[in-house]
Amino acid sequence: MQPEPDNDLEAYGRAALADLASANDEKAIEAWYRKHLAPSGTMNQWRKRIGAQPAEERKAFGALVNTRANALKAAFDAQKQVVAERALSQSIQSQSVDVSLPGRPVFSGGYHPVTQIIREVERVFHEMGFLTFESPHVELDEFNFELLNMPADHPARDMQDTFYLSDRTVLRTHTSAGQVRAMRLYAPHPVRVILPGLCYRNENITLRSEIQFHQIEGLMVGKSVRLSDLKGVLLNFARRMFRRDQRIRTRGSYFPFTEPSVEVDIRCTLCNGAGCRVCKHSGWLELLGAGLVHPVVLANGGYDPREVRGIAFGMGIERMVMLLHGIDDIRHFFQNDLRFLQQFR
Ligand code: PHE
Repeated sequence: MQPEPDNDLEAYGRAALADLASANDEKAIEAWYRKHLAPSGTMNQWRKRIGAQPAEERKAFGALVNTRANALKAAFDAQKQVVAERALSQSIQSQSVDVSLPGRPVFSGGYHPVTQIIREVERVFHEMGFLTFESPHVELDEFNFELLNMPADHPARDMQDTFYLSDRTVLRTHTSAGQVRAMRLYAPHPVRVILPGLCYRNENITLRSEIQFHQIEGLMVGKSVRLSDLKGVLLNFARRMFRRDQRIRTRGSYFPFTEPSVEVDIRCTLCNGAGCRVCKHSGWLELLGAGLVHPVVLANGGYDPREVRGIAFGMGIERMVMLLHGIDDIRHFFQNDLRFLQQFR
């Protein structure tokens, strides 16, 4: 007996749908599609049987097959979407961000402690009307020594161990080398500049001395400039830089390019004068060398020493950073060890 094609089709459809319901991942879904709806699949077998039906039943049977095929296709599409959505939500869950986790540190760069201090010193002097003046690191012997009242045989040259690049050129041993350059640019008009930068000396590298270090020089020349201006400028600087009630004192000293020459101390920034290890229990820290610009130097700069006077001062930057932060080894500044540098970010 011929099987009832409609009944069989009906049963096939139900079985296929049940099959589909248990296809729970993409692979199973695809396999189901190949088995039923692909060109080589069972549904096409049914289509081929349409022609074998008796003529009067053919049309109705064909319609049934098509309806069944459409139903299976719709069910397949729906199930495919369910599976895809489930896969997506699973992957979202398994890869989700736990917003309660502590963050990873973000590393940002920072300025070298020496750069930071230079900028702070510059800011204080800029407020007092000083301009920043840059002069060469490779300098003529003339500007580094001779024009500063240190001729070739002058004993003061021994104070500075110099890197000579040739007979006439040196690596500047101090920022004072820029003094005459600045004066020659401005003379006979007043000048008020600071000169920051690296200096070089041929020294043994120790806890306290490096072959390179930074200085900031100050220079002010004009008709009414006096020694008291030096004290006023430096006291104001010290108060803005360190503390509002900062005290300073001057001691007589000697530099060939200033007359008179002084050394300026500040009340110890760590113990405020009480006495501590850093100030060697004196209560004072040596900050800089200074003085009235020597008449010979003024003349070398293009001024008439009978008309104008000048003040000049020069301070070591690494030394100042060391005092401010209690650092006991100057070599740290040039080793670029991040463990050191990161403390100043
Ligand atoms: N140039 C001197 C030094 O290197 C410091 C100084 C500058 C002294 C200006 C007096 C005037 O030690």
